[in-house]
Amino acid sequence: MDNQRGCFITLEGVDGAGKSTHVGWLVEQLESRGLQVVSTREPGGTELGEQLRQLLLTRPMHLKTETLLMFAARCEHIAKVIEPALAAGRWVVCDRFTDASYAYQGGGREMGAASIAVLERWVQGDLQPDRSWLFDVPLEVARERLSRSRELDRFEREGPAFFERTRQAYHQRAREHPERISIVDATLDVDAIRADLLRDIDALLEKHGKARAGGSL
Ligand code: TYD
Repeated sequence: MDNQRGCFITLEGVDGAGKSTHVGWLVEQLESRGLQVVSTREPGGTELGEQLRQLLLTRPMHLKTETLLMFAARCEHIAKVIEPALAAGRWVVCDRFTDASYAYQGGGREMGAASIAVLERWVQGDLQPDRSWLFDVPLEVARERLSRSRELDRFEREGPAFFERTRQAYHQRAREHPERISIVDATLDVDAIRADLLRDIDALLEKHGKARAGGSL
């Protein structure tokens, strides 16, 4: 039933922005407000998707192959996890989604947005996140944070120019979708970031609750 539909939230940002730190906390916040939440990630989120993730993060491949595999994993993820959860009224929190394809393949790898838009339309139809947080940090901060992490994957090992193109493409997405994408200054400390996110969560709940009550979703 449409008026029972859950809300789709995505977390985005360059590697080293620290978004993953907030996923578990966000799920707890939503659950404590009485919502049923599915927490998932891309690439991945299904058994096949996780196998594709393994290839994507470790094996060199043609840019078109990389892009198609991202969308292949996404296709499985939408069909098996995201759509069924939303349809059942659950909220879905997803660590990265299609904005990452625009940022990394479109921007970082310089494919441009047009091919991504074709795949987006084909794979997703009308499905779009209701809210996306873009965790934003400059290069130096990202590098410093990444240097503390475990072994770097294929994307994290890219150089500063790739990082800047990816970040700029994310900003471009935020400019194009200001009503959906909110930029989070991820240089702030964790508590300050969470205070901002909480305000946004409550606004989202209010809006979603009203839409439900009005049956307008
Ligand atoms: P990431 O989400 O950063 O996981 P972890 O926190 O475990 O490192 O890793 C996923 C990588 O995949 C990240 O570097 C961005 C990349 N990616 C794309 O290039 N395109 C996409 O469409 C998606 C979803 C991810």
